[in-house]
This record gives sequence, structure tokens and C-alpha cells, in this order.
Amino acid sequence: MPGIVVVGTQWGDEGKGKVIDLLSDDMHMVVRFHGGNNAGHTIAWDGETLRLHLVPSGILYPHIIPVIGNGVIVNPSVLLEEMEKIESMGLDVGRLRISYNAHVILPFHEVLDGLIEESRGSSSLGTTRRGIGPTYADKAARTGLRMQDMMDPSVFREKVYRAVEEKNRIITCVYGANSLDAERIADEYAGYADRLRGFLTDTSLLVKKALREGKNVLFEGAQGLMLDLDHGTYPYVTSSNTVAGAVCAGAGVGPRDVDEIIGVTKAYVTRVGSGPFPTEQDNEVGRAMQEVGREYGTTTGRKRRCGWFDLVVLRYAVRLNTLTSLAVTKLDVLSQFDTVKVCVAYRIGDRVLDEFPPLYDDFSHCQPVYEELPGWKKDISGASRLEDLPLEARDYLQFIRERAGVPIRLVSVGPERQQSIFLDGGGEPLRQGRFLFYDDLPL
Ligand code: GDP
Ligand code: IMO
Ligand code: MG
Repeated sequence: MPGIVVVGTQWGDEGKGKVIDLLSDDMHMVVRFHGGNNAGHTIAWDGETLRLHLVPSGILYPHIIPVIGNGVIVNPSVLLEEMEKIESMGLDVGRLRISYNAHVILPFHEVLDGLIEESRGSSSLGTTRRGIGPTYADKAARTGLRMQDMMDPSVFREKVYRAVEEKNRIITCVYGANSLDAERIADEYAGYADRLRGFLTDTSLLVKKALREGKNVLFEGAQGLMLDLDHGTYPYVTSSNTVAGAVCAGAGVGPRDVDEIIGVTKAYVTRVGSGPFPTEQDNEVGRAMQEVGREYGTTTGRKRRCGWFDLVVLRYAVRLNTLTSLAVTKLDVLSQFDTVKVCVAYRIGDRVLDEFPPLYDDFSHCQPVYEELPGWKKDISGASRLEDLPLEARDYLQFIRERAGVPIRLVSVGPERQQSIFLDGGGEPLRQGRFLFYDDLPL
């Protein structure tokens, strides 16, 4: 019963969408377990591009059952729009399943996200303003609305109306902003409820049944470790747990339901929004990564900050997620450099740390200690086997593999599906059950 988790190991946008799409061929179900439409996962195939914010990245395969688990927060308007887009591509969205227990993002959550950001002034977090923090705050305060509240149309309408009225008091009294039209929002959400009711189910049981039948279930992480609410660079984080362990609470499975944990790691590092980023290159190098890597936020279109690869962060991700393998993406973007740097430790005053510093103050003031490796200066975007890569590129991967202590299962050299090197099958088609064997990986 292989349960396979795919998580981001940096600050998000590592290429999880691409990796999940590739692995989905071999899956039965793809389950989102946390986050909301702050996520933006991109899939590219045959020159087409699909950007997903809520629908799981396995959707392009007709055999996949896409599941939105209880840990996800759902903006119904965004979800319905995404479902329409997918339907217009000729794909059936009738197979989508949404947890009764997923919480609902309402318009006041987005408004409050913006107002809170503005009130922070220069120390704003740079959130996506999709209402993520305020919705998870309501969930924790036990004042949120859940998808199951949609089951009774008149009760749901009334709950939405009351919630808007209550939040209007905060919006007007605390922030001095305009109140929202509760009547209009209640009507709008009643309409969404009519369209989404039929998709709701006990997704925890659905997932468990699939696992019990021995089917492959992929759990799709959003964001990345460094944005984890507990383990990331708080307060510059998102409002959910992004670690692999969050699968249990967010999908309603147990720790023993997880067999494999794949960490997606970009060959360099990017970050959108505010907060410390030790290897950031606010210079020509960073600009070159940004341009060649087309580093613009999938959700907000903001430029992503770019920097050299950070092994301290990766080792932290290996530890917290108990990663079993790595997928290294965007290696092609580094082809332009004469040499490539890798941060192997942090210097704080006269101390050198190779473990992630637990104190925020240390992390925000540390200096990266780099090792410099030769670049390869060759186009690798057509590589489909390890042997197609120049020696220097293979050495770079080997360096990461050895220092992380985890094998690399997949290397990505471009956004398209075929721009991928499977190290566990020599480019052969994926096959059921293969995931449990990776003793003989070349890296
Ligand atoms: P996610 O949030 O982790 O799913 O990542 P995003 O989709 O937000 O951002 C990754 C971006 O890089 C997308 O535009 C992908 O199409 C693109 N991408 C993924 N893998 C590669 C790769 O190996 N090389 C290049 N050049 N682009 C890639
Ligand atoms: P995917 O799944 C990159 C960042 C925001 C901001 C911080 C808090 O595509 O990797 P939030 O709206 O969650 O309250 O914002 O988190 N952030 C992401 N950055 N990729 C993401 O998702 C992100 N989701 C949130 O930019 O800094
Ligand atoms: Mg993204």
C-alpha cells in the first residue's frame, strides 16, 4: 500500500507540480493535504501550460482520482473557476473529491489578509493576500466554516451571512475599512454550495480504502519546508504545516500509511515575499537566475528572489521530512555560470554552524559559507539520461547527494515532461510498485 509524499524543501516553487505530474502516471489518487490557493503548481506538456492552485496536479491523467483533503482551505470561487478551465480542456472533473472537513475561505478573509499586511507597514510578510492566515486563524479559533456546512442550503446561507456581519465589525472598527455586503456574499456562496455539494465526501476513508487495496496514493505538498508554520522562518511563513508529517492530520491517514517521502529541491533557491534568505544574490547572478529560470510567482506574478543552493536548508528538510529521495529541478538554469556555489554552512560571528539555527536572530544574520564547483556551460535541456549530462553537472548532483545523504531519484532539466532524467529507471516508463526499490540508484 504505497503512500508517497512529495514536499517542497525550500521556500516553495521548487517544481512540485512538474514532479507530481510525472509521477501521477503511476498513481491511483493524488491528494492535496494543506494550504490553499496561495499555491501555484505548474505543469508543462507538448508546449501547453496549466497552472493549478487547488486542484491536485494529477488531474491531467484520466485514471487519477484527485482529492482535496481536510487540511486544505478552499476558496470556492477559485476552485470552480479552475474546474471550469480543466473541463474546457476536455477533462472530466466529476472525479474530484473534496473533504467535508476542509475549511472555506470567505471574502472577508482575503480583505483581512490585505488589511493586516498593510497595517504591518514595512515589516509586512508579503503574503499572497489570498486569505490564508485569517482562514487558518478562524479554523484554530473554531469559528471557521467547513465545506460540510454547505450540505444544508439555508443553514449555510445563514452561517455565511452571520460570519460576514461579525467580521464587518473588525473590518470597520479595527481597520476603519468599508464593510462587506453580507447579503450579496451569502447569495454568492449559496450558489457555490449548490455547485460543490456533490463533490463532498469522507476523503479520509476514501484514501484509506485505496491504500488498503494496495493502490499508489500520492500526497501533494504545497509551499516548502522553510514556509512551515512551526519550522520555517516565522513569522515569514505560511499558516499551515508544510512538513511531510502534516499529511497525517491534513489527509486523515496515519504515519504508517506513508512509505516514501520525496523532497523536491531546485538546483538553486528562490523565495517570494519577505523574510531572511542567506544565499540570496541581489546582484547580476540573482538576476540571471531570475531571468533564465523565469522566476515569477505562479500565483501573484511577483518576481522571485534568487540565490545559490543551500545545503543547510536541504539537510534540515531531509531531517524534518525523513526524506527517502530527492527530485532536483531546474538544473538547466545553472548552465549559464562559469562556476556554481553551494552553501555548506553558516557563519554567525565566530561560530560556524552546519545545522539549521533554531534562533531566528541567528538565521537572519548568518553569512553563508560557500564551496565553489566548476560550471558546465553547456545546454543540458535535451538530456534524458545521466550520461547525457556533462561531468561537471553530474559532479554537482553528486555533491548534493553526498552532503544530503539521500539519493536523487529524478533530475529535471526543463519545464516539459520529457525534460526529465529518471535515475531509477533509466528513462523507462514508470511502473506500479517501483517506488519501494531504490538501493541501486546511480546517485
Ligand atoms: P511548484 O509550486 O513547486 O509546483 O513550482 P511552480 O510551478 O510554482 O514553479 C516552478 C516553475 O519552473 C514552473 O514554471 C515550471 O514550469 C518550471 N520548471 C519546473 N521544472 C523545471 C526545470 O527543470 N527547468 C526549468 N527551466 N523550468 C522548470
Ligand atoms: P507553492 O505551493 C512560494 C509565501 C508567500 C509569503 C508567505 C505567506 O506554489 O510552492 P501566505 O499567502 O501563504 O500567507 O503567504 O508564503 N508562499 C509561497 N511562496 N510558493 C508557494 O506555494 C507559496 N505559498 C505561500 O509569498 O511569503
Ligand atoms: Mg508555485
